[in-house]
Amino acid sequence: MLRHIIVPEDLTAHEIEAVFAISRDLETRFEEGLREPLFPGRVLGMVFEKPSLRTRASFEAAMIHLGGGAMFLGQETGFSTSRESVADFGRVLSEYVDVVVCRSKRHDTIEALAAASSVPVINGLSDACHPCQALADLYTLRERLGSLGGETLAFVGDGNNVARSLAVVCGLLGMRFVLAAPEGFQFDDDFRRHLRSILPGAAIVETTDPAEAVEGAACVYTDVWTSMGQESERARREAALRPYQVDAALLRRAPDAVFMHCLPARRGEEVTDDVMDGPQSVVVDQAANRMHVQKGLLAWILGHQA
Ligand code: CP
Ligand code: NVA
Repeated sequence: MLRHIIVPEDLTAHEIEAVFAISRDLETRFEEGLREPLFPGRVLGMVFEKPSLRTRASFEAAMIHLGGGAMFLGQETGFSTSRESVADFGRVLSEYVDVVVCRSKRHDTIEALAAASSVPVINGLSDACHPCQALADLYTLRERLGSLGGETLAFVGDGNNVARSLAVVCGLLGMRFVLAAPEGFQFDDDFRRHLRSILPGAAIVETTDPAEAVEGAACVYTDVWTSMGQESERARREAALRPYQVDAALLRRAPDAVFMHCLPARRGEEVTDDVMDGPQSVVVDQAANRMHVQKGLLAWILGHQA
């Protein structure tokens, strides 16, 4: 059956565990120096409408490690412009590649691409969500904490695409999720209703108080205050979110927590240098795991079993 991963809840908890098992297995072998060509000749098409380092480079490296190849398709392809319809683009691209990763400005562009594609489409970030990020982050926490059940992830800052995906994957894997954000930057009512419908028993809490949010947390997480595409709102966002900076004083309230950030970071805004570079920070490990988990996801979607 053709599977697209457009939102994190396109995977069940059981399927996420299957992806993590493959990821762990391939990560262990990678660390031993083994890069088994499980999928020779398979091609990943990477359609990107926004800048990227981690998602682009980690997917491309992962596909090469698997014995296949990756093709970066940037703005020069005319994707999602008047050059041709997204549906025509998807129908044709599906003839050349085995799987597609798409990063789009608008979430419905990825939905339209997937609807027209005859190969799996994976969301590599949209304005609505960032499923691959949240999967890699929970994999990172699982590696560090052993088990996630009952632990708290406190997200401090803008209730954005990354926060939304973390809330869903935390809910799926039994982790408590707390969002500390000012009014106007919390989840919207539609998303709250959606969370309640897909994860009725999940512990997902919102507060305006960052200190309360991080108390007892196993992970303190933040992301930029101004996401790609929101640049015209920068001044308003900085003013509202300034009290939500993750600094040493806030992190002292969660001495056992790891600090996470999806990156890229704007140091001095949502996070201070001493936190980013401090002993609680796992941001580089987190970025490294993007490759391991996406490799597991690619292998899973192409039919590999652990
Ligand atoms: N975290 C993340 O997705 O980074 P990029 O925007 O560099 O891909
Ligand atoms: N919220 C950020 C995440 C970047 C990986 C953005 O959308 O720009």
